Amino acid sequence: MDKDFLDALLECLLDNIAEGVHVVDDRGVTLYYNPAMESLEGLNPKEVIATHLNRIFPKLKEENSTLLQALSTEKPIHRNLQNYSNYRGDRISANNSTYPIFVEGKVRGAIEISRPADQLPPVRSTDASPEESKKRIPHRYTFDSIIGSSELMRAAVNTAKKYALSDASVMIVGATGTGKELFAQSIHHASARRDRPFLAVDCGAIPESLLESILFGTVKGAFTGAQTMKGLFEQAQGGTLFLDEINSMSLEIQARLLRVLQEGYVRRLGGDQDIFVNVRILAATNISPLEQMKKGLLRQDLFYRLNVLRLDLPSLRQRPEDVRELSEHFLERFSKEADKDIRGFEPSLMEDLMHHEFRGNVRELRNIIESAVNLKEDAGSPLSLSDLPRHYFLEVDDHYISLYEEKKPLDVYLGEVEKSLIQLAYFKEKGNISRAASRLGISRQRLQYKLKIYEIK
Ligand SMILES: Nc1ncnc2c1ncn2[C@@H]1O[C@H](COP(=O)(O)OP(=O)(O)OP(=O)(O)O)[C@@H](O)[C@H]1O
Ligand SMILES: [Mg+2]
Repeated sequence: MDKDFLDALLECLLDNIAEGVHVVDDRGVTLYYNPAMESLEGLNPKEVIATHLNRIFPKLKEENSTLLQALSTEKPIHRNLQNYSNYRGDRISANNSTYPIFVEGKVRGAIEISRPADQLPPVRSTDASPEESKKRIPHRYTFDSIIGSSELMRAAVNTAKKYALSDASVMIVGATGTGKELFAQSIHHASARRDRPFLAVDCGAIPESLLESILFGTVKGAFTGAQTMKGLFEQAQGGTLFLDEINSMSLEIQARLLRVLQEGYVRRLGGDQDIFVNVRILAATNISPLEQMKKGLLRQDLFYRLNVLRLDLPSLRQRPEDVRELSEHFLERFSKEADKDIRGFEPSLMEDLMHHEFRGNVRELRNIIESAVNLKEDAGSPLSLSDLPRHYFLEVDDHYISLYEEKKPLDVYLGEVEKSLIQLAYFKEKGNISRAASRLGISRQRLQYKLKIYEIK
C-alpha cells in the first residue's frame, strides 16, 4: 500500500467508525478528533483541535484524565465506565480505552477510543426511598435552592409557592436554562405530595414509539418483545409527574394523555384493565404554547387541561440584578468544590456579565463560572475577564466562525453577502426591478448597477 492510499484509508476509517477517537500529542494538545467522538462528547472539532485537554475538560485532573495518564505512565488504560463533563457542563458517560503512542521507543502522544456507555434510564426521579434512584439524581431542588431577588423572580417564586398548595396541573413556560425543572421539583417538594414520588420524563429525548409504553405501561405480548411493565403514571402513584418538553409529544400521545387526565384511569398498552391513577401533572415547554397550537403541534383541549395554573419564567436578560447574585452563588459553590481561594469578581468582569446576552440563561452563567473557576491559575485574587472560557466571547453563529476561518478580506465577504441578498430579492420578485429595489431599500438605478457588476440575470 502506498502512503496516499494509507492516508485515505485511515481517513475513511476514522470518519466512519462508530467508536470515538481522540488523539493528543505528548503535551496533551489535541491533534485529532473524529466525528463519532464529536457526537459522543458534544464538542465541535474546531473547539477541541489544537487546544489543551485542560481547557476542554476543566474538571479532569491528571489523575482522572485517561489520556494524560496514558502519557505519563506510558501504559494503556481500560476504563469500563468513565463519567466526566465537558467545559459546557454537559455530562458524558463512556467506555474508554486509552493507549500511549510510541515512535522509536518514545511516547509521542496518546489515543483514546470510546464507546458510549449504555444509555442511562430516560426517567429522572427524586423519589426518596430506593437507594438506586437516589443515585441517579444529582439534585433535589426546593424553593430554597432558587436564587434571585429581582422583582420578576420573586413574583415567580410567590406564584409557584401558591401552586404548591393546589393540586391542579401547572404549565411551566420558559426559555432553556431558566429553571423549569428547578421550579417543578420545588413545587412538588412543597406540596402535599412531597413524600410520594416525583418522576420526570423528557418527552423530546424519547422516541415516539417508546414514550407511549413508558408513560402508560405495557402488557406482555402487546407488541413483539413487550414485557409487562408499569408506566410512569402508575409509578408516580400519589405523586407528581413532570412532563418536560411537552411540545415534542405527538398528537396521538397527547390525545391519550388527555383521556387519562380526564378520566383518572390508565390502560397499559395491550391491556384490558383500567387502573386508577392519582398523579399531579406539571408540564414544561420552552416554546410559546400559543405558537404551538397555531402550528397544530399542541392540542387545544390538552393545553387548556394543563394550563389550569400557568407559570412563566423570565429569561436572565430580563433581570440583570440576578446575574450578580447568581454569579456570587456559583463562584462560592464551585471554588469550594475545586478547593480554590478566589476573592470575588473584578468589577469589569461583573459589568460584562451583567450585559451579557445569556441565551442559555442560568445554565450558561453557571457553566461559565464553573469553567472560569477551574481554569483560574492564580488563586488568591478575584476572578477576571481573562479567566473566562473562550466560548464566552464567541457568542457567534458557527456559520460566521467558519467564514472567519476562511481568512478572506472583509470586503470580499460583504460583497458575497450583498450578491446573495440581491439575487434573492431579484428572484423572489420575479425579476421586477422596482419591487426588488424597494424590498432592499435602495434605488432602481443602484440595483441595476449592482445587477450588472454582479452579473445577475
Ligand atoms: N433561579 C435559579 N437559582 C439557582 N439556580 C438556578 C436558577 N435557575 C436555574 N438554575 C440552575 O440552572 C440550571 C438549569 O436549570 P433547569 O434545568 O431547571 O432549566 P430548564 O428551564 O429546565 O432548562 P431546559 O429547558 O434546557 O431543560 C440548573 O443547574 C439549575 O440549578
Ligand atoms: Mg429542563
